[in-house]
Amino acid sequence: MTTTPAEPDLQERLQAAFDATIARNDRIEPRDWMPEDYRRTLVRQIAQHAHSEIIGMQPEGAWIGRAPSLRRKAILLAKVQDEAGHGLYLYSACETLGVSRAELNELLLSGRQKYSSIFNYPALSYADVGTIGWLVDGAAICNQVPLCRTSYGPYGRAMIRICKEESFHQRQGYELLMTMMRGTDAQRAMVQESVDRFWWPVLMMFGPPDDRSPNSARSLAWGVKRHSNDELRQRFVDMTVPQAEALGVTLPDPELRWNEERGHHDFGEPDWAELDAVIRGNGPCNTQRMAHRRAAHEDGAWVREAASAFAERTDRADRAGAR
Ligand SMILES: [Fe+2]
Ligand SMILES: [Fe+2]
Repeated sequence: MTTTPAEPDLQERLQAAFDATIARNDRIEPRDWMPEDYRRTLVRQIAQHAHSEIIGMQPEGAWIGRAPSLRRKAILLAKVQDEAGHGLYLYSACETLGVSRAELNELLLSGRQKYSSIFNYPALSYADVGTIGWLVDGAAICNQVPLCRTSYGPYGRAMIRICKEESFHQRQGYELLMTMMRGTDAQRAMVQESVDRFWWPVLMMFGPPDDRSPNSARSLAWGVKRHSNDELRQRFVDMTVPQAEALGVTLPDPELRWNEERGHHDFGEPDWAELDAVIRGNGPCNTQRMAHRRAAHEDGAWVREAASAFAERTDRADRAGAR
């Protein structure tokens, strides 16, 4: 926990111990002293991540009742349920930094904390379930695997389990698209249309370019982030191009080509004005996503009340029994 020690000497020693832990690539744990900015940055990042998992259930959740077979329904249900679990681990990790779940929820509902821009795009066909798994969860994996080594212990440990599940999500998406690509012309067209719609918004998931990402350098120095936005975006493109070829879909970027000299793919510039608009709340589904979350929260009020009443009664009974 952060403290404001009276002696300047102690303050310096605490800071030095913190710096040494980071330099050793070791973990900072909830009871360790940490600079207030580090704590605030982590709360913001972990909360944003938790909110993304929860809001991210919406586009695909809408397809559970319309899954084309029992097998697809079971897979999609399991996947959406995993995302709820990810949200819960991450809210718990965030609570170790001294914020409550209720506060985090309030910050989301009032719009003061964000969630990933990608979940403000709609899922319009069942192919989108596949594309979201392949590309959105694929991008999440690129972002999140390095976070397993992040400097804050509870966050890094939550990420290990989350990444294992994300890898299942990515494969189920790819397998669904592969099945559709082996189907009819109409199914192949449905996959291509879906990939065309998602490609650029997925590239934007890595955030603005490095020269426009003001907090990145500090997060890298603290070991909260391990790679810059542009590095991760490049890694994702390099990983995805051969997968698209195997699948037989075209990625909608005329500038996309292998650069022998760099040993990476060159690719076009996403429309950053679109990302800015989505972040400001003007994406295709921002209003709908927040309205749905708010309604779900209000509808769940009786469950929270019943759970606290039950906890209080059990607690009273326990105390009476202990007397
Ligand atoms: Fe997830
Ligand atoms: Fe996922």
